[in-house]
Formats: sequence, C-alpha cells, structure tokens
Amino acid sequence: MSKKVSRRQFLTYTLGGTAGFFASTMLFPMVRFAIDPVLKEGGGVGFVEAGLSEKDVTDTPQLIHYDVEAVDGWYEFIEKRTAYVFKNDKGKIVALSPTCKHLGCTVNYNGNPKFKNEFFCPCHFGRYFKDGTNVPGTPPLKPLDEYETKIENGRLLIGPVVKA
Ligand code: FES
Repeated sequence: MSKKVSRRQFLTYTLGGTAGFFASTMLFPMVRFAIDPVLKEGGGVGFVEAGLSEKDVTDTPQLIHYDVEAVDGWYEFIEKRTAYVFKNDKGKIVALSPTCKHLGCTVNYNGNPKFKNEFFCPCHFGRYFKDGTNVPGTPPLKPLDEYETKIENGRLLIGPVVKA
C-alpha cells in the first residue's frame, strides 16, 4: 500500500524543514551564548598565592590580603580577599575568613582586650574562639568560614571555603 504525497504536502514539508534548519542554526549560537556561564564547570576559585611563605606562618593569627581572579557570568575581575592565617595546636595551617557570620562585619583577632586569643566582632560583640568556632551566647550562630590551604614550593596557597 503506497501513500501518495501531494504537491502541497511536499512543499509544506520541504519549506518547513528548511525554515526549521535555518532557525536552529541562528538560535543555537544565541542560546549557547546566553547560558554559557552555566555550562562552564566550576566557575569557582582554585588555589591562589597568599603572599606568605610557610615559615612566616606562626601560631598567632595574622591578617593577610590576597587577590583572586573571579568570574561572575561574563564579567571577570580581581577580587580582594583577606584571611587570618595561623598554625593550630596540631601544626596544621588554618586560614579563616574575617567576615562575621552574624551580619557580615569584620572580626579582629584580639580585638577586645577583655577576650584574649579570640576573634571579636565590634558590631554586636560577636566572639569566636581562635579555631573560628563561635562562642555560645554571642550573636554569631556559625563558625567563621575556613579556606582550604596547601603549601607548594614553600609558599602558602589559599583555596576555596572548606565545605562543611
Ligand atoms: S555582625 Fe558580627 S556580631 Fe553582628
């Protein structure tokens, strides 16, 4: 049993297919461009030089400033970051974000003479122990963010926030 295709149907299929082909060749690059940042893997920040050698890291937290190449959609920029870096009781190098987990003010190590060896947030008197854990009964409800660290060729590198 053969099914005949009328001239009208043939033209409809041919023109429809051609129009669809041209439309897809125009639309695909546009859609690809629009969602490109979503398709890129990671988009996060890897390890960056912290501007400190391993031997300069002491057991007293010191505030360091470093640059990170960041990407936000199509916009690439240099982000200025800071971290408190020190060796903990086990000799592990720790890098803590100085951003208070209450409302985002900046904490200071030994920032209040009443609370020795603690991070102090002047905004609402938030406090954190040296390891970044929030002091119970003070406004912050979470510990300070901790960054990954590693040593390469004797230099300290700081990475992304350690996932809880
Ligand atoms: S912002 Fe730090 S205690 Fe409120």
